[in-house]
Amino acid sequence: MARVRPAIEAGRKPLAWAENLLMRPVLDSPGCHTDFWMPHDTAPTSGSILSVSQLHKLYGETLAVDGVSFSVEPHEILGLLGPNGAGKTTTINMILGVLQPTSGSIVIDGCDLALRRRQALSRTNFAAVYAPLPGNLTVAQNLRVFGMLYAVPALSRRIESVLAEFDLVRFRNTKCGVLSSGEQTRVALAKAMLNQPRLLLLDEPTASLDPAIAREIRATIREFAARTQVGVLWTSHNMIEVAEVCHRVLFLSRGRILLEGDPRALPSQLGHKTLEDLFVTVAREPLTVRHAEEDA
Ligand SMILES: Nc1ncnc2c1ncn2[C@@H]1O[C@H](COP(=O)(O)OP(=O)(O)OP(=O)(O)O)[C@@H](O)[C@H]1O
Ligand SMILES: [Mg+2]
Repeated sequence: MARVRPAIEAGRKPLAWAENLLMRPVLDSPGCHTDFWMPHDTAPTSGSILSVSQLHKLYGETLAVDGVSFSVEPHEILGLLGPNGAGKTTTINMILGVLQPTSGSIVIDGCDLALRRRQALSRTNFAAVYAPLPGNLTVAQNLRVFGMLYAVPALSRRIESVLAEFDLVRFRNTKCGVLSSGEQTRVALAKAMLNQPRLLLLDEPTASLDPAIAREIRATIREFAARTQVGVLWTSHNMIEVAEVCHRVLFLSRGRILLEGDPRALPSQLGHKTLEDLFVTVAREPLTVRHAEEDA
């Protein structure tokens, strides 16, 4: 069932992007960074894979994330949707521990990120096109370095497994920097699966993939979610893909969650033909979405 949350109309001043924050320790939280790469903690816990509560992020005068609360359950692929600047990447960077929230809590597989950072992050991994792996290392070297950082057991076998899974065997000795963007994305996804994370964060994972490879990647992630206890947070601007891959979606608009529901059912529930039509409405006129729901 669709859930509509109140829209906001707060004006914000545009700010330039700061440098890419991924793959770095928390910049505004001294003392935490040594915990970022720590051995994989395998103790399973019950309940949600991710619980985010009243998360806020203020960049100067820009309120990028404004009281966001949601959870991701085991086996679930949750789509985080929203127009450019909605706050998706900021939310993901806070969950990854590379950005310090202004306020709010993040609990990963039962571990509060603020209190048990090492354990929380050992259960997490991510891939994003804007966070490429070091280009001067080969595919195999990259996987080995990251596998060691995550203390992946039986690492050589695990590397062979992800090389095969992401069709990278022939690139094993190729430097990542010379791979095509689609090939680099596959390496990033292979790296993201290395430690068999409980929480997988994928920020526009198929953005640079050709349609055939993108379809394979979607199937791989769906199968991984069905087979393991993983919870996946997936952002994408491709609404056809979202409807295919995500079990549930959240629409973020101006830092707030405006809508939540099944991507296949939401459009008709709110008087739209397709998820893309609904997306355009939410992006342009958040308040009209609320009216459609109230009229229903
Ligand atoms: N490091 C930063 N410093 C200042 N402002 C930032 C910073 N990072 C993001 N912002 C601002 O915060 C807002 C949210 O940005 P964010 O990157 O989270 O959006 P997004 O939903 O991921 O957008 P897109 O779909 O374009 O990737 C934007 O207004 C952006 O300009
Ligand atoms: Mg983004």
